Amino acid sequence: MMQNRKSQIRFLLVLIAAVFGARFTLAQGPDRPWMNPALPPEARAELVLKQLTLDEKLALLHGNGMAHTPFWQMPLTHLANGGAGYTEGIEGLGIPPLFIADAAYGIRDSGANGRYSTAMPSPLGAASSWDPESACQYGELIGSELRAQGYDMTLGGGVNLTREPRNGRTFEYVGEDPLLAGTIVGNLMKCEQAQHVIGDIKHYAINDQETGRMILNAVISRRAMQESDLLAFHIGISIANPGAVMCSYNRINGDFGCENPYLLRDVLKKDWGFKGFVVSDWAGTHSIGKASAAGLDQEQPMADFFGPHLREAVDAGKVPLSEIDDHARRVLYAEFLSGIVDDPPQMSVVNVEKGLEAAQRVEEKSIVLLKNYQAVLPIQPSRIHTIAVIGGHADIGMVSGGGSSQVDPPGGNAIMPPGKGETHYQDQIWFPTSPLKALREKLPNTKISFDSGTNVQSAASLARNSDLAIVFACQWESEGMDLPGLSLPDNQNALIERVAAANPHTIVVLESGTAVTMPWLDKVSGVVEAWYAGSAGHRALANVLVGDVNPTGKLAITFPRSESDLPHPVIPALSAQDEGQAEDPIKAGTPISGYTVHYNEGAEVGYKWYEAEHKQPLFAFGFGLSYTSYAYSGLIVDSEAKTARFTVKNVGERAGIEIAEVYARLPQGSDESFKRLVGWKRITLSPGESQTVTVTIDPRVLQTFDEASDGWKLTPGEYEVLAGPSSDNTPLTAHLQVR
Ligand code: BGC
Repeated sequence: MMQNRKSQIRFLLVLIAAVFGARFTLAQGPDRPWMNPALPPEARAELVLKQLTLDEKLALLHGNGMAHTPFWQMPLTHLANGGAGYTEGIEGLGIPPLFIADAAYGIRDSGANGRYSTAMPSPLGAASSWDPESACQYGELIGSELRAQGYDMTLGGGVNLTREPRNGRTFEYVGEDPLLAGTIVGNLMKCEQAQHVIGDIKHYAINDQETGRMILNAVISRRAMQESDLLAFHIGISIANPGAVMCSYNRINGDFGCENPYLLRDVLKKDWGFKGFVVSDWAGTHSIGKASAAGLDQEQPMADFFGPHLREAVDAGKVPLSEIDDHARRVLYAEFLSGIVDDPPQMSVVNVEKGLEAAQRVEEKSIVLLKNYQAVLPIQPSRIHTIAVIGGHADIGMVSGGGSSQVDPPGGNAIMPPGKGETHYQDQIWFPTSPLKALREKLPNTKISFDSGTNVQSAASLARNSDLAIVFACQWESEGMDLPGLSLPDNQNALIERVAAANPHTIVVLESGTAVTMPWLDKVSGVVEAWYAGSAGHRALANVLVGDVNPTGKLAITFPRSESDLPHPVIPALSAQDEGQAEDPIKAGTPISGYTVHYNEGAEVGYKWYEAEHKQPLFAFGFGLSYTSYAYSGLIVDSEAKTARFTVKNVGERAGIEIAEVYARLPQGSDESFKRLVGWKRITLSPGESQTVTVTIDPRVLQTFDEASDGWKLTPGEYEVLAGPSSDNTPLTAHLQVR
């Protein structure tokens, strides 16, 4: 009780300091040498650590409830600033508390807390830009809004590979390739942390489906996970140097993510040299001694294991003090590294316009043009006088991804389900971003009519009487559930078929979180993938549809023809008993479920699987069209410098940006029958212009992991290097010699 009182008084002091614009940090002085910003974060952390009592150290290692935890369960919850977690600081020493918010594509619960946050396009959308700079702007924007709302730690940075495209969190992640995913998330988190919030990369690891996520045992060989999911984490972490990594709910080869010595201690901390702290996923902690020894540093959002029970374990000599020091040192290091000690957040008003601008620019680079038969797009107002816009609530807005990443739209859900008054964890939430209105603004002299699509006949009749039909098709997904399949729900396939039969000039705009199957593909003229488009998605989309923006995005995930082509045609079902446990934290003493998924496809994730299995995808990884076209020529590989040089020419009539992709195949005799993405370049080209570019081949993605020696090796021999516009279209080949 005393402790709580103390915390409340401290919090009041912090508030007063913030109100009067005072700095929360205490001035540097001979008695506070750690406040010297010229010292490296490691040294500063060490200096503070020496000052701490055991209880002060332990306070850094657990949460104190999340925004909606009842007060009687966690008396400090009200200090959490409305966020997902709160960890006390050591105010007397200038170490601020952690105010933690979910922020995968914007800041969660902003509406519920009476604040505003920009919704960026979904991370999977942003990954389709293949643009580290765009990822950086994404992170920067979220970081600045976090600070404006008083948060100093983010829970973003999902980099689990799309091994299972029905995973309900696919939209939160950044695709199926380790190099692309790691590069995008790394740049995003680097720039977010540069705003002085502690960065986080999650969910470590193999949290590749939501079904049974709390109990699932993911079984996969070490080599396969090193060359796929872990490689994405490693690349992301080495670019971002985040203060935190969040361990996952699931088990990996038997051990839970948050008490997995191989993943946490051996790989993350030892091999990769990660110096920040491992934070548990929310209620993902399952033990005291095992978790602590394995390398979990902080339990969130409560203190079920790392609170008083950890103290007891230390007192009883079951957990060594050196482990407590290591955990506390890592939390302190992250605080100094990220800049939150020297520059704690100051509450301010979010710059709405700046956010909308950033969200629009990112979405313009994220939209992928998948089909454009006879140049049906961009819309030519000189030829198209009437347009039928059909379905997808396009008259009201665009859909967003659900779960803990949910961003609240200003004014609440634009399409309120009956009987619901506010946004909920697993409801479809719509932003008031009507593509119909945006299109009407862009094409003031075109008659644009709307049909909701609920009556297929009336929609078809509007389409028949229009020059062009645009069907908006939505596939909503959320954390905590997987999709039953990749087919569009709610009769939307039938709607598209009927509209396309009525008007051959039919375009489908997809608002999806993952791949979609398209039984109607041959019957429509155009397909545009807009993803979950964010706060200004309607404007970005309208710009692409009318040609003010030439699309440049390319798929960061494969679109299969059917679920039967996936490595797992069905997601293994949960038993009735498992169902009950699947979304609840495992309580101590609960028997461990036998729910297991064998990832026998190993490192053959996404395009690698399709190539190895000789399966033709519907749309390949790396595919995306433009309103212009490009020709590739003259590939030269420099084996010493490990570079690929080639020329790309814009052979069309519009300026554009081509994402030129480089792949490599391991030497003959290797056990791999797929190519790996080894680099890419975004090239801006005016009509007729050609450019010779050099792509440096990242050596990490040429290597294989050797389980026997527990290390990486670069196999000598002749590697085939391929360059082209997508993973299934690589017209240029040359060879790289590795001695
Ligand atoms: C999710 C995390 C999230 C956390 C806090 C968990 O259920 O898996 O991604 O950051 O909740 O909301």
